[in-house]
Amino acid sequence: MTHTLIYPQTARHDDAGHLEIGGCDVVALARAFGTPLFIYDELALRTQCRSYLDAFAVYPGPFEVVFASKAFPCRAMCELVAEEGLSLDVASGGELAAARLAGFPPARIYFHGNNKTPAEIDLGLDAGIGFFVVDSFEEVDRLDHAAAARGVRQQVLVRLTPGVRPTTHSFVQTGQVDSKFGFGIEDGRAREAVRRVREAGALDLVGVHAHIGSQIFELDSYRREVESLFDALAVWRRDLGFACCLFNIGGGLGIRYTEEDHPASIAEFAAAAAEAVAAQAHDHGLDLPRLLVEPGRSIAGKAAVTAYTVGTIKDIPGVRTYVAVDGGMSDNIRPMLYDSRYEAMLANKATVEPSVVVTVAGKHCESGDVLVRDVKIAPPEVGDVLVTPGTGAYGYAMANNYNGQPRPAVVLVGDGRAREIIARETWDDVLRLQRPLNQ
Ligand SMILES: Cc1ncc(COP(=O)(O)O)c(C=O)c1O
Repeated sequence: MTHTLIYPQTARHDDAGHLEIGGCDVVALARAFGTPLFIYDELALRTQCRSYLDAFAVYPGPFEVVFASKAFPCRAMCELVAEEGLSLDVASGGELAAARLAGFPPARIYFHGNNKTPAEIDLGLDAGIGFFVVDSFEEVDRLDHAAAARGVRQQVLVRLTPGVRPTTHSFVQTGQVDSKFGFGIEDGRAREAVRRVREAGALDLVGVHAHIGSQIFELDSYRREVESLFDALAVWRRDLGFACCLFNIGGGLGIRYTEEDHPASIAEFAAAAAEAVAAQAHDHGLDLPRLLVEPGRSIAGKAAVTAYTVGTIKDIPGVRTYVAVDGGMSDNIRPMLYDSRYEAMLANKATVEPSVVVTVAGKHCESGDVLVRDVKIAPPEVGDVLVTPGTGAYGYAMANNYNGQPRPAVVLVGDGRAREIIARETWDDVLRLQRPLNQ
């Protein structure tokens, strides 16, 4: 097996020279469930959850690991995360509905979103979720009224933009001043938000939240985030009497998509975050808050691969060889959105030396529908099962029906057993909501 650090932890090759994950032959999975197919390694998911819980135990106070469900929002994942004792971040009514379907304990749900609709606010309140992370003044008012109408007091965190810009793609930077998310500390909106939530009769301000971005490799951004937030918290404690009990530093830890990527480990991330929060609380004379972290990608990302079938091969001599697969930007839009790089291999030729540089193209009507550019794989043939690793986060989550393409199936593998946790859409599913012109 090449690139063992990029594939799920149980990945190996079997006696037939096929890629195996969770004790299941990936070529057999592709035949049984069809392609494109998301294959999640259950052990890898559980190991990442446990790694977070173990790593954050270095924090001298209480802590909570909150899975950002947007990375892989589905019922089975919510169930797995609940079993592992993590909390859950939802960013829409749809994600909350999946959490409810899974029976996720509402008290451990955090509801995000920069424009929660009145219907979503109602859904959250009726579900009795633990926390709303408020993101706008409009939401403060809407939530206050809706909670008051139900005669409940809703616990709230305010989302802050600390003015920190980590080194990552600009589309996934979220903590800078010029952001659609949260209340800016520098422009005074954050202080005003704290004041207003504390004055709202049906809201109980218990903490603050910030999320500075995604696919972050260097830990210094988190230290700067914590410093910026604590500077503000110290002033608000003094001026407004606000004591912050919950301190959520967000998610964002990067993962290894290719051999060139060198992200920090979960343990290094936890140590840096825990040390920064403890030091800042001490230096500002504040009580140690409950520390929350909200990982998505670093839990789900490396746990999955996507398997495709090679359908056509176009060799342009001296230029490029296109290997076209039966999916593309409908199941993985990240290369087009963020220029994301992936590796690839042929699951049915796992022991054959990679020797041919190809470009893996999707089947969609866009020249930009390229999944992996210039990747070395074993000599490809039509019918091969091509696999891209690292697709567990924001892959299925961002899947779409472009070109009327049904969304893929998702299987969870472990101990030689595969369970279909999301069924493949059919053309009928895709057409189900369409109505005739003349009615
Ligand atoms: C508020 C919030 N928390 C957590 C996350 C998870 O980030 P990641 O998957 O990079 O860990 C995101 C991602 O967009 C987010 O917006």
